[in-house]
Parts: sequence; structure tokens; C-alpha cells
Amino acid sequence: MSALPAVVPQSDLPRKVTIYEVGARDGLQNEKTAIDTGVKADLITRLLDAGLSPVEATSFVHPKWVPQLADAKELMTELVDRLGDRARELPVLVPNEKGLDRALELELRHIAIFGSATETFANKNLNQTFDGQWAMFEPTMNRAREAGMTVRGYLSMCFGDPWEGQVEIAKVVEAGKRLLDLGADELSLGDTIGVATAGHVKALVQAFGDAGVTTDRLALHFHDTYGQALANTLAGLQCGVTTYDASAGGLGGCPYAKSATGNLATEDLLWMLEGLGIEHGVDLDKVVDTSRWLADHLGRPSPSAVVRALP
Ligand code: HMG
Ligand code: MG
Repeated sequence: MSALPAVVPQSDLPRKVTIYEVGARDGLQNEKTAIDTGVKADLITRLLDAGLSPVEATSFVHPKWVPQLADAKELMTELVDRLGDRARELPVLVPNEKGLDRALELELRHIAIFGSATETFANKNLNQTFDGQWAMFEPTMNRAREAGMTVRGYLSMCFGDPWEGQVEIAKVVEAGKRLLDLGADELSLGDTIGVATAGHVKALVQAFGDAGVTTDRLALHFHDTYGQALANTLAGLQCGVTTYDASAGGLGGCPYAKSATGNLATEDLLWMLEGLGIEHGVDLDKVVDTSRWLADHLGRPSPSAVVRALP
């Protein structure tokens, strides 16, 4: 049995949170080595077995843009073979109608579209202008809703952009509201390059609140480039946000964002939640075992402090 922190609950924090696991998508999209479809299916199965839910599985993007996830169809077919209908509950990224067609063909039920708060990243990541991205999302969203899918909206570069520098909070709120107004069920605010600090997180969540977007519609997606992801998560908890994106072993990054490194490691998040007495429903030991197993496949150790520290 692994060591666990002492539990000291805090009355001003949420009692329970949802961890939205992105390792199989955000993590593997950035890997240099090709990973077998079977290993990806094993990874997702193990993460589900550890109690993680949702587990984002892959992306239906252009295979030339993200070759690491070019096997999205094969992966989802393999998962349906293994898990049956449960596999169709796994969310996948879809940028446009072509991606939606591919997800519909497999009868998947949850998609995530991904927009940018900045012009440059809309161009680099989606081959769109800032304004053009909404025109791409609108028919995608409408058809997904008609098909009864849920749609998560990601917004990238919410705290800073490697090409444009600082990003105005008002601009982020405007773009985020746009995703929600298009019909997104939930909005995940991405610190794509990990530059956010705790006060900035509070200010952004507060600004969404002032604009009428309550914390139950928000998720926070921190990359850990500057080692701030856990501090930022605590700031988010203090604001009442209850959904956090994280990636097993701290894998991750974005191939189209300079200096994007790994996401907040699921294990590091679990350690903090354990200590704060916040319910999460996940078996830490199983996630650690999975990250060590994956590290063997990738040929390098996990960057997660908790994975490294535990015996
Ligand atoms: P494009 O080249 O402008 O596409 O790419 P197009 O619409 O002009 O079409 C060109 C060709 O691509 C056509 O084929 C389409 O059918 C095909 P042709 O007629 O020439 O044979 N095509 C597709 N094929 C398969 N699946 C598709 C698809 N769409 C078009 N979905 C596009 C535009 C959006 C497709 C491209 O820019 C793309 O795939 N971008 C994805 C980039 C990406 O996946 N980035 C990482 C995820 S975002 C992220 O990591 C951030 C996040 O974690 C939050 C955070 O950290 O901030 C979520
Ligand atoms: Mg990301």
C-alpha cells in the first residue's frame, strides 16, 4: 500500500470534484514515438479501471496535423470490442464537421470542440482566423446537438499566448461565452503553455461569474510548464470550480503551441485532493501503476512528482 497524506479537510472548499482525464489525448498527441493502438486501448482501459471518468480517448482531427492520433477510428473500434457500449461514452476531440462525421459513424456520444482565445493560435492550431473558428464550430455544434451528443468547449491560451504575450481577461470571457452560446455544455479554460498564476485564475473565474457564467459550467485545464498547476488548482477550488483536467503521469502538451509541456499530473492532483479530504473516486495506486507501465513504453520516466516519490 502506498503512503498517503494526512487528511485535513477545509470547510471553504468543494466536497467533491470531477477529474477529467486527458492523458490518452493531450498526453499522447505530443509523443514523438509512435504508440501502438493496442497500448492506447490498454491505457484507457486501465485509467477507467482506476475509477477515472470521463477519460478522453483521442481526437478526430486531420491525421496529418496530429499523426500521433491518426488511429482514432481503429482505437475506438478496438475499445468498442473490449468495452462494448461503454466505449461510446468516452469523449473525443472534434474540430469540424468532418471530424463530427467520423465520430457519428462510430456512434460516439460526447465530443469536445476546441477554440482559441487568440488570433495566432486559432491560425496555428485550426488553420482559422479568430472569427473564422466560430463559423467552423457552429454547424458542428448544431449537428452534434441534433444527434443528442454532449459537447464540451475547450478554450486555449486563456492565461497567455507564446506569440501574442498577455491575453486580456475580457477577451477570454468573450470567447468563452461564445462557445457556451453556441451550445457547449461545459467550458474548459486552458492554460495551454502553463503561465497562469493563482491570482490570475481567481480573476478569470470571477470575471466569468460577473458575466453570468457560474462555476458549475467551468472546468480548469492547467499545463504545468512553470510548476504552477497545483497552486492554480487550489485557487480554482477556492473559487468553487469542481472539474479539473489532468493527465496520468503528467504527460502532455500541444504540438501547435510553442513551450506547451505536460498537463497537471493526475497523481499530483489526487495527492492534494486526498490531503484536503475532497472526494474524487479514483484509486491513486492504480493510476501510479499505469503511469509507470506507460513510462516503460515511452522509454522515459514520468514527470509527476508523486509518481517519482511513491515507493
Ligand atoms: P485544414 O487543412 O484547414 O482542413 O485543417 P480543411 O477543412 O481545409 O480540409 C482539408 C482536408 O482535410 C480535406 O481533405 C478534409 O476532408 C480533411 P481533402 O478534401 O483535401 O482530401 N479534413 C479532415 N480529415 C480528417 N478529420 C478531420 C478533417 N478536417 C478536414 N477532422 C483542421 C483544419 C481543423 C482539420 C486542422 O487544423 C486540424 O486537424 N487541427 C487540429 C490540431 C490539434 O488537434 N491540436 C491539438 C488539440 S488542441 C489542444 O491540445 C489544446 C487543449 O488541450 C486545451 C489547452 O491546452 O489549451 C484542448
Ligand atoms: Mg491541453
